[in-house]
Amino acid sequence: MPIPTIEWIGDADGRARIVEQTLLPGELKFVDLATIEEVWDAIKRLAIRGAPAIGVAAAFGVVLGLKGSRAASPAQFDADVRRAADYLASSRPTAVNLFWALERMRRCAAAVRALPLREARQALLEEARTILAEDRRICRALGEVGAPLVPDGHSVLTHCNAGGLATADYGTALAVLFRARELGRTFRVFVDETRPLLQGARLTAWELQQAGIPATLICDSAAGLVMRDRDVRAIFVGADRIARNGDAANKIGTYSVSVLARAHGIPFYVVAPASTFDLSLADGSAIPIEERDPREVTAGFGRRTAPEGIDVFNPAFDVTPSSHIAAIVTEKGLIEQPDAARVRAVLLG
Ligand code: MRU
Repeated sequence: MPIPTIEWIGDADGRARIVEQTLLPGELKFVDLATIEEVWDAIKRLAIRGAPAIGVAAAFGVVLGLKGSRAASPAQFDADVRRAADYLASSRPTAVNLFWALERMRRCAAAVRALPLREARQALLEEARTILAEDRRICRALGEVGAPLVPDGHSVLTHCNAGGLATADYGTALAVLFRARELGRTFRVFVDETRPLLQGARLTAWELQQAGIPATLICDSAAGLVMRDRDVRAIFVGADRIARNGDAANKIGTYSVSVLARAHGIPFYVVAPASTFDLSLADGSAIPIEERDPREVTAGFGRRTAPEGIDVFNPAFDVTPSSHIAAIVTEKGLIEQPDAARVRAVLLG
């Protein structure tokens, strides 16, 4: 059973419990989030992270935002829900699952606004729990759809963390690997460390080790050499937002990996639930890319490694063009050589 990255404790007056991911792999610690501000902060500082997990956290955040509500009318309830959702929407811009989950919570709120406050809040909690339960099922479905793509007896490469820690179950890209392993395939996973916050080294390497899957940690800059010399036959990554033509935003460095994969003739697979697609965007150029604190680059984990005052550019994500993607693995099926028509056919067909 995967570690519960996020769960809810108690009734509508309860709290969210998350794995404090900033402490991994040194310490596996669970922390309780009892206010909406604590949820916002946990998302912002990556205590909870990964697109689907951020969505679940935001849904629970809305429940916490309504905890102290004194709404005496549907209009006041609407205003409280709007305030909570707008606030959570300001935590991180790229992963569309955040906005997707908030939209579901807004729709749920609109349907129950006339109920007594306590019942309406309980309904919001049920909706958030449903989002979590659905994510669990979706991770399993992604694993089923993607496992046949894992080359038996060879190596694969992944970037960032798209595992259990990024979802409510055992991941997206890593779900494919976990399922392939369950089905008896043997393979090695090369894990990009994923500068600057090391989600690959701290989280993916840890998850694969826990699962007993052979894994080799590499510096991001070793990916080209490894693809050329180490029998890498497929790349699997997650995504934070996919435009309707299949362009996919994921952790910074993913685009470089896709270029290297293309140069070496290695299929590059993106694994993501339908909730990661943003069909309002024609292509990846309009995906908002989060820029983070320069100190993540100049003084990562507290030790200064660059001169004071140096100019820094620290985008947290980049966009891989759909032309670099062999297939997108979704819970609804495989979108091979993705373009707008194929995305639509699998997601809406
Ligand atoms: O900044 P993070 O750690 O939230 O970024 C996470 C990623 O980019 C993941 O690869 C992506 O969310 C896919 S997670 C299933």
